[in-house]
Amino acid sequence: MTTLTAPETTSPFDLHGRTAVVTGAGRGLGQGIAMGLAQAGADLVLVGLPGSQEATAAQAVELGRSVRVVDLDVSDHDAIGPACESILAAGPVDVLVNNAGIIDRIDTVDVPASSWERVLDINLTGLFYITQGIGRSMVERGSGKIVSIASLLAFQGGIRVISYATAKHGVAGITKALANEWGPHGVQVNAIAPGYMATDNTTALREDPERAQAILDRIPQGRWGTPADVAGAAVFLGSPAADYVNGHVLVVDGGWMAR
Ligand SMILES: NC(=O)c1ccc[n+]([C@@H]2O[C@H](COP(=O)([O-])OP(=O)(O)OC[C@H]3O[C@@H](n4cnc5c(N)ncnc54)[C@H](O)[C@@H]3O)[C@@H](O)[C@H]2O)c1
Repeated sequence: MTTLTAPETTSPFDLHGRTAVVTGAGRGLGQGIAMGLAQAGADLVLVGLPGSQEATAAQAVELGRSVRVVDLDVSDHDAIGPACESILAAGPVDVLVNNAGIIDRIDTVDVPASSWERVLDINLTGLFYITQGIGRSMVERGSGKIVSIASLLAFQGGIRVISYATAKHGVAGITKALANEWGPHGVQVNAIAPGYMATDNTTALREDPERAQAILDRIPQGRWGTPADVAGAAVFLGSPAADYVNGHVLVVDGGWMAR
């Protein structure tokens, strides 16, 4: 039987009165996501490398949002717990967006331990500890939304990016494991898999004429994505509109995976 409820006066995508933490929000997709959340009404806590996020903070303040900047290198795992405690001491977190990430393009036979470890330290282990630190409080409160930025390389192997593909498959694994574990506690855990987006992450690809053309030829929408293209998916997964979406990895790729 279907039960219709009275029309809501507020949009299910509305984030006014909610606080969102975004990592690596100083540029690229993180900046686009932070601004999308701010436009939807969210107050922000921007977590990232010292001196990198002030411009994003100023833009969100212009929209009338409350914004806090927290300096943190997510590869400094010992610093993550205290940073999470300091964020939570100022008030509860409703949405966590794990966006900070790096990529190293190297033939697998030449990958040094330092590169392998750094990519995994930032993209996977750092993401895990932040998710644990903020997610614990969501479990205790019985509500929260976690959105991690994965990649098409959570599904595919990629070319010359073995550490990145490994880390992003791991992000999808964390997403599904926590959807199982924290779903019963009112916390939804999802991920976004952006396609090929024009940011610093893909500069090397876009500067290689053959790779750039081959990539473009496979994207049905015929263009690279932008930070604004990912923002809507993050607002959706961070909002009440996604209250029954859990453990999903949402591709935002202009149709790449449909090809
Ligand atoms: N651009 C793409 O095509 C694409 C595709 C799929 C997934 N992604 C993912 O999107 C996310 C954002 O990447 P982007 O494309 O905006 O690239 P980007 O290089 O412009 O941004 C990366 C962000 O992460 C931050 N960061 C890097 N190392 C950090 C550290 N140690 N501690 C804290 N912050 C750190 C940077 O300061 C920056 O804000 C990444 O997780 C990336 O893997 C990007």
